[in-house]
Amino acid sequence: MHFLTFLFISATLAHEIVGQYVFYGNYIHSVNITTLEYITDGVIVVDAAGKITQVEKSSSESEAKLIAHNHGVNLTQLDNHKFIMPGLIDTHIHAPQYVFTGSGMDLQLLEWLENYTFPREAQFNNTKYATMAYNLAVGAKCLYCRLWI
Ligand SMILES: *[C@@H]1O[C@H](CO)[C@@H](O)[C@H](O)[C@H]1NC(C)=O
Ligand SMILES: *[C@@H]1O[C@H](CO)[C@@H](O)[C@H](O)[C@H]1NC(C)=O
Ligand SMILES: *[C@@H]1O[C@H](CO)[C@@H](O)[C@H](O)[C@H]1NC(C)=O
Ligand SMILES: *[C@@H]1O[C@H](CO)[C@@H](O)[C@H](O)[C@H]1NC(C)=O
Repeated sequence: MHFLTFLFISATLAHEIVGQYVFYGNYIHSVNITTLEYITDGVIVVDAAGKITQVEKSSSESEAKLIAHNHGVNLTQLDNHKFIMPGLIDTHIHAPQYVFTGSGMDLQLLEWLENYTFPREAQFNNTKYATMAYNLAVGAKCLYCRLWI
């Protein structure tokens, strides 16, 4: 099992490429905490739900095409200036803070907590607000999120 299987593209991009894909070309990922592996002739199979189901290295172009053919898709061949890597993405969110995501990014933590977080979190004493906020947080946007409520 490779680290690569965790997540290889941002959630945003994942929305754009939903569908089954077989990629052929360069990828780079970490084998463990000290070692990166750089593969120049790799195959990555992504299923219709966006999950990586197969990873190969040292594949010829015809082998890659055969894998794509067996999955009923055209091979997506990366040119040599492109590579795939695991997404450097924080995949957790705090559900009560979801409604003001991205607000006050210029503030220091304490100011941000006092001016954005604490007032909004206080609103959760209202069940209508809580229902709305959690529905938004748990909605489709949370495809890849671990939710901390
Ligand atoms: C990481 O993997 C490399 C290559 O297999 C190995 O040489 C190295 O000892 C490993 N390091 C750790 C911390 O496991
Ligand atoms: C593969 O590419 C060909 C040529 O562009 C196209 O006609 C065909 O529909 C594609 N097949 C799939 C499964 O996307
Ligand atoms: C944060 O809120 C306090 C109190 O309402 C206010 O005095 C302060 O100017 C605000 N700070 C920022 C950076 O908006
Ligand atoms: C909820 O908390 C807010 C902010 O502390 C307060 O103004 C409001 O009266 C509270 N509402 C209820 C229904 O307790």
